[in-house]
Amino acid sequence: MRSSSSLRTLPLSLKVSEAFALLRMHLKRRQLDVANYPYDALMTEYSSILERHGRRSVDGQRVLEIGFGARPFRLAWLFNRGIDVTGVDLDMPLIKWTPRNMLHIARKSGWMRASKSSLRYFLTDIKEWRFLADLFRKEHGADFRFPADRLVVTDASTDEFWDRAGKFGFIYSEDVFEHIPKENLKNLVKRMSVALSPDGLAVIRPTVFTGITGGHHLEWYAHKVSERDAPRSTEPWEHLRQNRRPANTFLNGMTRRDYVELFTPHFEILENRAMHPDLGREHMTDAIRAELSAYGDDELFSNTTLFVLAPR
Ligand SMILES: C[S@@+](CC[C@H](N)C(=O)[O-])C[C@H]1O[C@@H](n2cnc3c(N)ncnc32)[C@H](O)[C@@H]1O
Repeated sequence: MRSSSSLRTLPLSLKVSEAFALLRMHLKRRQLDVANYPYDALMTEYSSILERHGRRSVDGQRVLEIGFGARPFRLAWLFNRGIDVTGVDLDMPLIKWTPRNMLHIARKSGWMRASKSSLRYFLTDIKEWRFLADLFRKEHGADFRFPADRLVVTDASTDEFWDRAGKFGFIYSEDVFEHIPKENLKNLVKRMSVALSPDGLAVIRPTVFTGITGGHHLEWYAHKVSERDAPRSTEPWEHLRQNRRPANTFLNGMTRRDYVELFTPHFEILENRAMHPDLGREHMTDAIRAELSAYGDDELFSNTTLFVLAPR
């Protein structure tokens, strides 16, 4: 099973410099800010999506998160809010540092991932989990429990996973599908449509490759795009142009149109909406537009795109 967290083909120097840049970003986040943990708002957003399509809110639904990530804050928050949520991810998160857990991650996902996880664990994760627990206690007056038994570590595109998963009323996935090969997504999407109850919904929100953030280059992360004078070694939409410094992560390169084609056989697409349709507009020039004439604005300004799907 392949970890999506790093690319074997990239030169070590690029991997190391990206790892340091990521570390700097995590250290910045150490200034813990309530705005970085908007999980009640997210729950409200999920419920309002369900309700505007005539479904029940997330309360009382059986819920699945695909790709909960190295720090499954979202899933943990929903669980503590009383949601019956389970998650699946290819990689095991490092929730408690022990030599055994570190070795386990190294065996499964490689030493690069294990080292990065360990460093991040001591520099930021411990503090963030504590912050999250305090925030939850303050806002909901209850203790915060980490739901280790709700995390399934496996490839979400396999039949083995779905054969055991059962039925769900709501499935969500944030910033994950772009990391799964298109061929594997075909089975995942098919199995997802069968696993949803007939009135269930899926909210799938990938970062579309053709947007300015689509190359996952740290210099073009969403919060960096509007830093006009930021020193950069790459150009806007670099990944669709010279692609000089590809990010150290697997990307399937899917366009917004590719996602529509992927979902359509199994789902009715109720919403297909770019979350920040103006992101990067200030970087578009006539020369870039001419160079990227193969892509329309619906692709170049897609970035994070919300797909709301109802099984056919
Ligand atoms: C960019 S992270 C996003 C994590 C989380 N959703 C978030 O928003 O922070 C992508 C996650 O997708 C997971 N992933 C990639 N391919 C997967 C697969 N085939 N099955 C399950 N998870 C996968 C990776 O392990 C990684 O944790």
